[in-house]
Amino acid sequence: MLTVRNLKTTFQVEKNKILKAVDGVDIDIQKNEVLGLVGESGCGKSVASLSILRLVGSKGRVSADRLEWQGKNLLALSEEQLRGIRGKEISMIFQNPQASLNPVYTAGNQLIETIQLHQGLDKNNARAKALELFKEVNISDPERRLQQYPHEFSGGMAQRVMIAMALCSEPDLLIADEPTASLDVTIQAQIMKLLLELKARRGMSILMISHDMGVIAQMCDRIAVMYLGRIVELADAKTLFENPRHPYTRALLKSIPKPSPAQRGELKTLPGDIPSPIDLPLGCRFAGRCEFARNACLQADPVLETHGTSQVACVRAEEI
Ligand SMILES: Nc1ncnc2c1ncn2[C@@H]1O[C@H](COP(=O)(O)OP(=O)(O)OP(=O)(O)O)[C@@H](O)[C@H]1O
Ligand SMILES: [Mg+2]
Repeated sequence: MLTVRNLKTTFQVEKNKILKAVDGVDIDIQKNEVLGLVGESGCGKSVASLSILRLVGSKGRVSADRLEWQGKNLLALSEEQLRGIRGKEISMIFQNPQASLNPVYTAGNQLIETIQLHQGLDKNNARAKALELFKEVNISDPERRLQQYPHEFSGGMAQRVMIAMALCSEPDLLIADEPTASLDVTIQAQIMKLLLELKARRGMSILMISHDMGVIAQMCDRIAVMYLGRIVELADAKTLFENPRHPYTRALLKSIPKPSPAQRGELKTLPGDIPSPIDLPLGCRFAGRCEFARNACLQADPVLETHGTSQVACVRAEEI
C-alpha cells in the first residue's frame, strides 16, 4: 500500500544549520499489517510518519526517491490533493487524546461533524453512525457519552473517542504515534486490543510508533528499529525479539525494564551520548555507543543489507 524509498527530512534550524531528522528511510506497509517503528526519543519516528503526508511545517523539507501511496506519487500531489488523503485514506492518532479534542464541544458534536464532513450524511444519519462508532470502539452507554464534554472522559476513553474520529473516513492506514504512552498499563492493553480488533475487522493497516518494546512486541507483525534518522534493523517481530542482529536493537532489548508497573514503558537510557542530528558523525552513527565498534565502523556508513530474514545496517552483523 505504501512504498517509501530514501525518505529524507531536514529542518533549517539556524541560518547555516540543517538538522537531519530523517536521513534515508525505506518503509513498506502491506495491507492489513501492523508495522512498528521503535527507537529512542528524538530518533525521527514522528517526523518520518508526518513526512509521509508531507506535514512538516514551513521549516521542514521532505525528499524521497519514492513516496507512493496506493499507486499515487505523494511527492507530486498538490496541497489540496494531499488533503484528500490526510485524515481520510490515512488517519492519525496521537498521545494525549484530550488535547486533540476541542474542550468547548461535546464528543458527539465533534464526531457527528466529522462524520458529516467525510460521509456527507445528514445530522440524523450522522448521529446514528456516531452511535455505531462509539459501540465499535467499546464505549459503553454511548447515548450518554455522546453528550459529554472532553473533560468528562478519562484518558483511555478520550483515546477511544479519537479512534472513533479516525475511523469516520474508513481509512486504509492508521498512523498511531505513541497512542498509549500517556495511559495506565491496563488501559494501554485495552487500547492495543481494540486497535488489533479494528485492524482485523476492517482490514486496515497500522503504523505503530512507540518507544515501548512491550507495546511493539504485542502489536506488530514487522518491526523497524530507528536510530538517528535511519532504520538500522527491520525484521518480523519474532525474529527481531529472538535474534536481534544490530547492536542497537540488542541494547534496546537489554534495556527493557522489568515489568514493574511504575517503570514499564520507559526505556532505560543506554550508555553514551546520542550524536546531534545537526552534526552527524562520519561512519556508523551508533559507533560511539556500540560495544562491538571497530575502526572500520568509524569509516563505513552502513546501509540495510539482508542477513537471514532480517535487514540490518551494520558492517559486523554477520559476526555478531
Ligand atoms: N519542527 C521541527 N523543527 C526542528 N527540528 C525538529 C522539528 N520537529 C522535529 N525536530 C527534530 O527532529 C528530530 C526527530 O524528532 P521526532 O519528533 O521525529 O523524534 P521521535 O523519534 O518522534 O521522538 P519521541 O519519541 O520523543 O516522540 C529531533 O532531533 C527533533 O528535535
Ligand atoms: Mg515522536
